[in-house]
Amino acid sequence: PTDAGVTSLTRVLPADMTERSSGCPFDPAPGLADRRGAGAVQPVELLNGAAAFLVTGFEEARVVLSDPRFSSDRIRYPDASRLTPDQVAALGVHDGSPLTPRVETREDGMFVFMDPPEHTRLRRLLTGQFTVRRMKALEDRLREIAVEHIDAMVAAGTEADLIPAYALPIPSLMICELLGVDYADRDEFQHNTAVALSTRSSDAERAAAGGALYGFIARLVTEKRGTPADDLLSGLVHDAEPPLTDAQLIDMTLVLLGAGHETTANMLRLGVLALLENPGQLAALRADPGLIDGTVEELLRYLSIVQLGVTRIAREAVTVGGVDVPAGATVVIATPEANRDPSHVVDPDRLDLARPRTPHLAFGHGIHQCLGQQLARIEMRIGFGELFARLPDLRLTVPVEEVPLRNDMQIFGVHALPVAWG
Ligand code: HEM
Repeated sequence: PTDAGVTSLTRVLPADMTERSSGCPFDPAPGLADRRGAGAVQPVELLNGAAAFLVTGFEEARVVLSDPRFSSDRIRYPDASRLTPDQVAALGVHDGSPLTPRVETREDGMFVFMDPPEHTRLRRLLTGQFTVRRMKALEDRLREIAVEHIDAMVAAGTEADLIPAYALPIPSLMICELLGVDYADRDEFQHNTAVALSTRSSDAERAAAGGALYGFIARLVTEKRGTPADDLLSGLVHDAEPPLTDAQLIDMTLVLLGAGHETTANMLRLGVLALLENPGQLAALRADPGLIDGTVEELLRYLSIVQLGVTRIAREAVTVGGVDVPAGATVVIATPEANRDPSHVVDPDRLDLARPRTPHLAFGHGIHQCLGQQLARIEMRIGFGELFARLPDLRLTVPVEEVPLRNDMQIFGVHALPVAWG
């Protein structure tokens, strides 16, 4: 889920379903919590007048995400949640017949919005690049990056906004390592990524940064064609048979960037905040670093930052959880609720780092399940682990109610995280 891809959905969802409360930014938005008890699959009217369905049950969400009758292809099929009221009206009433594709073939590389077989080929090419050896090298580099940034924070004083100082550089530099972006180009790349993905930028700034990023990646692709190195992008350029086009390679890189950057950055920030606000749990983690894997999984479940960002389009009429979903309807997975489904998790509203292993949907489910999850887990394990080990008295400098929430974005998190140490 890229922020760019889902902000339009945020605009058509009732605000109380995405805006969390500043008193407890870890709990699902009040509008979602209020719907508890209204069924695992619930009809919901979007602000553009389109009918949609909200899936709050854990099992029902898994059923939707593994059923090929639900499509991710919003180029081929009209997605009512991304249309204006006029466009929704023009679609007419769904007559129950299966959707007709708008295009026959896809030539782009936005595989997150594709179905099999197009999705299968592009995803397989990418998973082939996430080798054990490459992941191990990334892990070693990541530890160096984390330690360098903590040392720089300590050298500069006793207070910082943890986002620019730590939570943003980690995912950003990891993507640079993965793609093989040259050291000399990293500032430009990081700057344009930050501006392109930030809500704080104006539309014009975002467009300019997005254009610069597109040009940068296009040049990177040309460079990897000419001089391959040991990185993921070179691998994609040279291993694919038949070869990928430049347009496909650029799109695939943009998907990786959009999906891997803001998600990890926000898990790091909100995760640090959640641990600081749960001192008993944090003390347990400090006492037993072996809890780190459980910590990462529990934070993923408890925080569910990709709120309502996982959606599908019903290609034909389907009954899920006893509810009839007509062809053409948008189905929105309410991840914060599904991850706290009491029929799946015991005492779901409690953060419990020592919880017995519990499957969760924070990385989605099925054929589109997060392709970067292994890397994301490494980033969080090292990101949280090094920070709390090296800054034993890390603390918030403002009350939690004053931490600015990212309620304006589909990927939930915080806009700033003022902390002190020493
Ligand atoms: C897909 C969450 C980190 C790359 C997804 C999906 C979710 C998700 C929920 C499913 C989307 C859908 O089904 O429509 C997260 C979270 C992350 C994270 C919570 C951090 C904690 C990363 C990283 C990368 C990445 C670090 C890349 C290096 C991708 C890609 C997809 C994806 C490429 C699309 C896969 C496909 O369509 O087959 N992610 N992600 N993600 N993620 Fe992540």
